[in-house]
Amino acid sequence: MLRFGILGAGRIGNVHARAIASSGRAVVRYIADSMPDAAAILAGSVGAETASVDEIVASPEVDAILIATPTDTHADLIEQAALAGKAILCEKPVSLSVERIRSCLDVVEKAGVPLMIGFHRRYDPNFAVLERRLRSGEIGDPEIITITCRDPSAPPVSYIERSGGLYRDMMIHDFDMARFLLGDEEPVTVHALGGVLTDPAIAKAGDIDTASVQMQTASGKIVVITNSRRATYGHDQRIEVHGSKGLLRAANVHNTTVELANQGGWTQDAIPFSFVERYQPAYTAEIHRFLDFLEKGEAPRASGYDGLMAQKLAEAASESLKSGQVVFIK
Ligand SMILES: NC(=O)c1ccc[n+]([C@@H]2O[C@H](COP(=O)([O-])OP(=O)(O)OC[C@H]3O[C@@H](n4cnc5c(N)ncnc54)[C@H](O)[C@@H]3O)[C@@H](O)[C@H]2O)c1
Repeated sequence: MLRFGILGAGRIGNVHARAIASSGRAVVRYIADSMPDAAAILAGSVGAETASVDEIVASPEVDAILIATPTDTHADLIEQAALAGKAILCEKPVSLSVERIRSCLDVVEKAGVPLMIGFHRRYDPNFAVLERRLRSGEIGDPEIITITCRDPSAPPVSYIERSGGLYRDMMIHDFDMARFLLGDEEPVTVHALGGVLTDPAIAKAGDIDTASVQMQTASGKIVVITNSRRATYGHDQRIEVHGSKGLLRAANVHNTTVELANQGGWTQDAIPFSFVERYQPAYTAEIHRFLDFLEKGEAPRASGYDGLMAQKLAEAASESLKSGQVVFIK
């Protein structure tokens, strides 16, 4: 069984620890967190021990490091783990700076260790099927990709302050999804809009909570992404791809398939409010894919390069918001 050391026992560290512990293919050996209680509680629930980051990275009893600490620690921890010869699964984004991602990926390449980035939506069963059917040509050439992502509410302001802002923290998933669906074409222009409509504290933290981005590839394909940190009805996650021969759409996943019909019309069940619930199958599949990568050499769907390219788009969107201009990707 492959042995993981997990760095960070917060929201996503918990999700990954449980997915590993229930995978039947790997174990969580150690957990580190700068808040010892958080590490101890999670370690207790998955049969692991607590240790410091340095102890875990240096431990011969650890094969792979899962990085689930705040974003501004990722690049340093990836390098530390790479230099120790460990396989790495790191949460998105790799860093808030494209330049820092480049230097970090250089270290990983020189160390020759496997690295996968936590763009879990590529493993969502619905989105994965949509991508497969798109690639198989069912709707011809994709022409317009529309991605909707709305969170029920914003994370704490203390998180937002360290997050790098909505484009780098939240829309980064959609930039990655856009690239996943575009296949071998990259966006070459980015135009962003953004505002604060849900909570003035977000503006005080220097961020936005409502945003849209339009991108275009060299051949003219268009991507439209909308994000909000508020959705009264749950975690709204939809994708539509319009192509030359039809349309593929992945709708929201409802809590049950039960519908009610009465004089007021047809009503569906609610959708999940938490991303953890909505994407549970994706997080599980992501861990299995990482294990396939290490054990069978199957390439991960999201590599360090994908982390870099998504970050480039996030930076371009931030620049476009500031200038009000279209940004050309070099
Ligand atoms: N892929 C996804 O669906 C997804 C979802 C949420 C968060 N994330 C990413 O995961 C990362 C963590 O987010 P979160 O929501 O779990 O945050 P969080 O604040 O809930 O958890 C982070 C944990 O790391 C600990 N920590 C901070 N600095 C540390 C250090 N130097 N060493 C060890 N522990 C340290 C904190 O005490 C905290 O318990 C972020 O980069 C975020 O972008 C990804």
